[in-house]
Amino acid sequence: TDKEKKYVIGISQCMLDDAWRQEMIREVEIEASNYDNIQLVIKDADSNNDRQIKQIRELIAQKVDILIISPFQSDPITGVAEEAYRAGIPTIITDRKVNTDQYTTFVGADNYELGFTAGRYAARYLPPHATILEIWGMMASSPAQERHKGFQAALKDRTDLAFRPIEGDWRYDVAVKCLKDIDFSQPVDFVYSHNDMMAIAARERFLALDSVRGRELHIIGMDAVAHAGLEAVADGRINASFLYPTGGEQVIRTAMQLIRGEQVDKYIPLLSGQVDQAAAQTLLLQSERLSNYQQRIETQRNRMLELLNRFYFLQDSLGIIMLL
Ligand code: FRU
Repeated sequence: TDKEKKYVIGISQCMLDDAWRQEMIREVEIEASNYDNIQLVIKDADSNNDRQIKQIRELIAQKVDILIISPFQSDPITGVAEEAYRAGIPTIITDRKVNTDQYTTFVGADNYELGFTAGRYAARYLPPHATILEIWGMMASSPAQERHKGFQAALKDRTDLAFRPIEGDWRYDVAVKCLKDIDFSQPVDFVYSHNDMMAIAARERFLALDSVRGRELHIIGMDAVAHAGLEAVADGRINASFLYPTGGEQVIRTAMQLIRGEQVDKYIPLLSGQVDQAAAQTLLLQSERLSNYQQRIETQRNRMLELLNRFYFLQDSLGIIMLL
């Protein structure tokens, strides 16, 4: 009933205009719809540190019961994350890290390990003295740094390799721009992209060049999320990807545990895995099935609400008739 206390979960998202983050919010909303006693307040910082800091301060001032932060850049968001935690608000950090241990828990996959697995995969396709084009995510965000370090570590014995780094900022459009300056007639043997959208940009650029006609180029990305990279792996535009779960479901579950006063671990790991073409095709089928189920659940929920309304209406009308 309305008298029951509603708990407010504030979510500060660094941006929303990409498939991976939209999937995160979708998972958040589906998981949250299992509970009647929570209300979500979602803020979109639109890729701007100052805006994210301001929005987090608003959520602190509003005294949300739980705060979830998906930081834009790690350093700039550290201070305000600490402010929230010190104000006594249980604070969940997800995806990108902040440089402090003043938060309640971190939910996310291990990006160093993702990079390491990608490096081991790459080793199978790298000829001697290969040149690797590495398309970085935003260098000031922890997943880019960790995906780079893990990849390097897996290939540390390959002193013959050459790296050509570019910074794609995690974005397809930025990667498209940077890739214009890359001369693919100078040998590029392999593309390691920190996410799938930038990997797709690399494939498109490569295919558009006359100078490389007939040549093959192995390109890998990360995320393997539906409506973006997963389709690209399934249809062969990207050779492989590595699953980077959004954690939308887990952050809400964790929030509920904290609301119930339960202890949670300081790190809640999300599992990853290699996604080649066959795996991508299977995952796509699965994700379609899941969204069908979800739709059926929603239809049933709506039907139930309709029935309930009719019932209350009947009850009210009966009450009035009795009074008369
Ligand atoms: C989405 C994204 C993902 C990437 C993650 C890293 O905004 O760029 O592609 O895996 O953020 O924080």
